[in-house]
Amino acid sequence: RKATIITAPFSGGQPKNGTELGPKFILDAGFKSQIEELGWQVDMKHPLEGTNYEDLRTDEKDQQGLKNVGIVSDCCHRIYKSIKETAASGRLPITIGGDHSIGTGTLAAMLEHNPDTCVLWIDAHADINTPSTTESGNLHGCPVSFVMGLDSESYPKEYQWVPKVLKPNRIAYIGLRDVDAGEKEILRKYNIPAFSMHHIDKYGIGKVFEMALDKINPNREFPVHMSYDVDAIDPSFVPATGTRVEGGLSLREGLYIAEAIAESGLLSSLDIVETNPLLGESQQNVLDTVGAACAIGRCAMGQTLL
Ligand code: ARG
Ligand code: MN
Ligand code: MN
Ligand code: MN
Repeated sequence: RKATIITAPFSGGQPKNGTELGPKFILDAGFKSQIEELGWQVDMKHPLEGTNYEDLRTDEKDQQGLKNVGIVSDCCHRIYKSIKETAASGRLPITIGGDHSIGTGTLAAMLEHNPDTCVLWIDAHADINTPSTTESGNLHGCPVSFVMGLDSESYPKEYQWVPKVLKPNRIAYIGLRDVDAGEKEILRKYNIPAFSMHHIDKYGIGKVFEMALDKINPNREFPVHMSYDVDAIDPSFVPATGTRVEGGLSLREGLYIAEAIAESGLLSSLDIVETNPLLGESQQNVLDTVGAACAIGRCAMGQTLL
């Protein structure tokens, strides 16, 4: 069993400083050896090495209302190539962000690698805005739509390399509680399986996880890419992240999802994104958040409680 940690120190998909420090904090906390202790052989790739995205990031919208299209697209393209290579060599890619705009790169790579791949998107947000629906212009709110080819006339030319490979019945959401009006319309129009905090309260996390897989992978035969935004977990446990939304998953519910995907044996790749070490109000806040990000990774890679 071999895995590759791909670092994505990037913050150009949203306006707050610090998201680019996520990988460093997670690695400094010992993430690589934690995964090795579970029996994996682990190596690392740094596809963004040599870039200076942080200096180029601005808070200005282009004529279309989008921010930082050039650097986000370039970053995603590098991540995409790195993940494709990793997956082709038979290793499991673990991409550590960085903000969630990199999801365009990871989804594109894994779906090209195996078109049967289905996606679990664990998040407070749906991240399925298109250039026409986004109000913020922050591309971390849009990664899913590009790979789905929604509204594709509206895509900036920089995104033309993105393969439109994700079908609406191959992604399911868990943890939603802050979905924009335009996104709700998209979820309804394409009948995309989405489980909000309401469903988790109603059915419990164990059942919701099964319901989500039943929708996208009823025979449990397809590989699963899990894209885990740490803001899915309640800000009381994961405070150091850029778009906090109250009323989220408990820490145990959050880790359960990762344990359950490990137990299924279907995990083919993993993203852990949106850790922002500069947003903790205290040292403890940062430790809690980085600790949760590491725990998500360990659980998804097979750590069990007993
Ligand atoms: N829906 C909002 C937007 O499009 C928030 C997105 C937050 N995304 C995230 N990956 N944290 O701006
Ligand atoms: Mn989010
Ligand atoms: Mn919005
Ligand atoms: Mn997200």
